[in-house]
Order: sequence, then structure tokens, then C-alpha cells
Amino acid sequence: MAESTGILITGGKVVNEESSAFNDVYIENGKIVDVGQNLHVPEGVRVIDATGKLVIPGGIDTHTHMELAFMGTKAVDDFYIGTKAALAGGTTMIMDFVIPHKGKSLLEAYDRWRETADSKVCCDYSLHVAVTWWNDQVKNEMEILAKERGVNSFKMFMAYKDMLMLQDSELYAAFSRCKTIGAIAQVHAENGDLIAEGAKKMLSMGITGPEGHELCRPEEVEAEATQRAITIASAVNCPLYVVHVMSKSAAKVVSDARRNGRVVFGEPIAAGLGTDGTHYWHKDWAHAASFVMGPPLRPDPSTPGYLMDLLANDDLSVTGTDNCTFSVCQKALGKDDFTKIPNGVNGVEDRMSVIWEKGVHSGKMDENRFVAVTSSNAAKIFNFYPQKGRIAKNSDADVVIWDPKLSRRISAKTHHQAVDYNIFEGMECHGVTVITICRGKVVYEDGNLKATPGWGRFIHREPFSDFVYQRVNQRDQVGQPTAVIRQPYEGKVISL
Ligand code: URP
Ligand code: ZN
Ligand code: ZN
Repeated sequence: MAESTGILITGGKVVNEESSAFNDVYIENGKIVDVGQNLHVPEGVRVIDATGKLVIPGGIDTHTHMELAFMGTKAVDDFYIGTKAALAGGTTMIMDFVIPHKGKSLLEAYDRWRETADSKVCCDYSLHVAVTWWNDQVKNEMEILAKERGVNSFKMFMAYKDMLMLQDSELYAAFSRCKTIGAIAQVHAENGDLIAEGAKKMLSMGITGPEGHELCRPEEVEAEATQRAITIASAVNCPLYVVHVMSKSAAKVVSDARRNGRVVFGEPIAAGLGTDGTHYWHKDWAHAASFVMGPPLRPDPSTPGYLMDLLANDDLSVTGTDNCTFSVCQKALGKDDFTKIPNGVNGVEDRMSVIWEKGVHSGKMDENRFVAVTSSNAAKIFNFYPQKGRIAKNSDADVVIWDPKLSRRISAKTHHQAVDYNIFEGMECHGVTVITICRGKVVYEDGNLKATPGWGRFIHREPFSDFVYQRVNQRDQVGQPTAVIRQPYEGKVISL
């Protein structure tokens, strides 16, 4: 169901990932009907004057965990509150994760998650599915999900030992399956065995606070797993997507692999681009705990700038948030033992502003790259471009009027999320969402939300995304090793 009234956006600068142009945009029935000058539109349509502002594709957050039950509690942003907050920040689509327990059906978990989300979402959404165990049932269900349920991405955990983690042989099997069914393999890249050992060591040394979370899983734990995942994916010629790249070392691994021709994509998140892990050493326990997530933010304060440089230069490709919010009283489950602090941070509302501030306002990237990393690249990798991620005729009318001259200060006092703190508290961000249009409906305007639960639709994604699979398939055709043709060996063979 789409709103039938037309909207004409005039005078703005339309920004797509490859170019910008001063054009008007006409929207009707949830779609962009036309982009250009002097458009012919019906009488009486609503006109939005975007003079002096940018008209950009609505943001796509590639990584959220709304209302996830995790580490003994449940994330406080549910699909309603979380997607409302997304819209307020200029994000018009989220990609959430179905995470089945070990031994449980992927299909049943998927159906349950669809049921949970469908009636609550205020913006469009799609689902990645996690593979947390391995057998023939999982293998078959992956195919059904890809062929019939609109899922073309599967996340494998290399951390959370005994809970979600897969062994290398299982990663090999899961990546091979992704390749066969035309999906992209995603990894949470951290060495779960080393984390488990490191955590025991920290606790035995009397380090029980949030700093222990980082100390037991230093950068190389992330970098090693990233390299291992790339090696395994490369062995089966499977495209790989590394979620939440948090450290300089892991980012370098992804960047080197891309330079060596691997089909790999790295996803930094708003938290890693906007803040750092020095907070784990904060004297106020609640403050320090609110930053706990896995992989952790890094104490090296040059990390966010470095990740942004790589994002600006296409070593990293796309941005999410890993929005998985636990309030202070939930974080306090780990008040005496950092391993019990539920992992997760906020970001879904502030991602666009943080990236504009640290990326565009700082001069590291231009407005077009901003669009690429906040929407278009996600739509290309996950195969729903140009339905989304583009301001063009026939694309979904997910449009944000963005004012680069306005600024705002992020605060938990004013955000729309359910969580009672904000890891970006006090950050001044240039670049503000003035109006958000979600599938043709104005859902946020000058600070007022008009979001409707259930307005969002599930976005079905076909397998074999061209953007990802063209190169992969071609390599299969021309790059297969062949046996050397020789005369049979006729000499002596040792008798044993
Ligand atoms: O800390 C995190 N990242 N929580 C959510 C689960 C995950 O690993 O993505
Ligand atoms: Zn993860
Ligand atoms: Zn996550």
C-alpha cells in the first residue's frame, strides 16, 4: 500500500553515487516518477522547496539487531522504535539478522522473525540469516531461503564460542554453499578460541571491568580471523562480506585482499567511525560498559579516522551500525564480570550524521561517495539496486532532504531510540535530515515523526547479485586449474 498523493521536490541538488545535478523530483504512489527540469505534474500536488539542500537516497543500514534476545536479555530497540529512529536520522531501510540457535531450523527462525518485524516496521527492511551450526538440513534450508524467501546473505560467526561460533571446516562448508546458491557469505571475524582464553586470563588477573573486554580480544584477534575468512572464501571462490570491521589491522587485511583481487567487502559501522575504545577505561562503570560490543572499539584513537580514510577510498565499501541496544540496567548484568555485559551499541539514528560529519564535513569524501557508502553500495551488493540507493525514475521513493549547513548535537535526551544513553553523546554533527520520505510518504519533517508501524515492507532479494557474482562466475569459467597432460611415468617404482 503506497500513499497516492504526489510530491514534487523542487530546487534541490540531487545526489547519486556517481554525480550530482540540480533537478526536480516527482514522486507518486511510492515511486519516483520523474527527475528533471520543468516536470509536468498534476495540479494540487504537494511541493517541497529543497533550495540550498541536497536530495539524497534514503540511507540503508546494512546491520541491525532490533529486539534481539542476546546474552540473557533483549535489545530495547524493537522493530517499531528502531525503525522510527532510523527514519528520524534519514535511514529508510534496515537489514536485520535472523539468528537461529544451534540445532534449530533456519526456516522457522526466519518465519518467526518476519512475523515479529512485519507488523512493527516503519520503514522497509530485509533479512540476513545466520548459520550457527552445520548439517544437511541447514544446507537445504539455505537454498530454500535463497530461492524462495528473498535472502541472499548468510552470516557466520567466528566468535561467541559454544554459542554461535563455527569451526573452519564448517565455514568452508557454509561458504561453499553460499557460492552454489548465489549468496554472499558474511563473517563476524574474531578468533573465538583466543577470546575465551583471553577472558579467563583477564578475570584471573582481577580485571573484571569493561576494559577487560578489549584486553582479551586485541586487534590481532580480529585481523587473524579476517585473514582466515578471506583465505577460506578464496579457496571456494565465494564472495565475502566482513561485517563490523573495527580495527586498523582488520581493515588493512580487507584492503590488501581487495588489492590482491579478492571479491571481499568491508563494512565499518557508525560506532567505529565516530568514537573509539578509550571509553572502556572510563572511571564511571556505566559509561564504560555502554561502549561494549564485539569486536570492541579500539583504544588507538587514530582508528576512526583511519577507517574513514579507507571507506572514502573504496578499501571499505559500505556502512551499517550493528544497532543492538541494551540499557544501563541490562549492561549491569556484567557489573562484576565483563564477559556478562551484553554486547551491543546504538547507531541506527545517527549513522548518516556521523558519516557526514567525520567523512564529508572533514573533507575525506564528497557527497557522492557519501551516498555510495550510506545506500547505493549496499543496494548493489545485496541486489536491490536501483530499486533503492538511487534517485531515478522508477526507483522507490525513499528520499531524504539533507541540509549540509545545519548542525545538531547528538544526545540521549533528544534521540528517538529506546536506549538510555548514546555513545555519540555531545557530538556536534553538520548535516541534518530535514525531511524523510519513505516509499512516497513524508514520515519525518522538521523534527516531527509521522511513522506508522507496519508501513515498511519486506524487501525480497534475488541471489547472484551481478555486482558481486559477475567476477566470481567468470573466474569459475576461465580460472579453473587444469591437469598437465603428460606421458605416463614408465620407470621403476620402489617396492615397499
Ligand atoms: O556486539 C555486538 N556486535 N552485538 C550484536 C551481535 C553481533 O555480533 O553482531
Ligand atoms: Zn557480529
Ligand atoms: Zn551484529
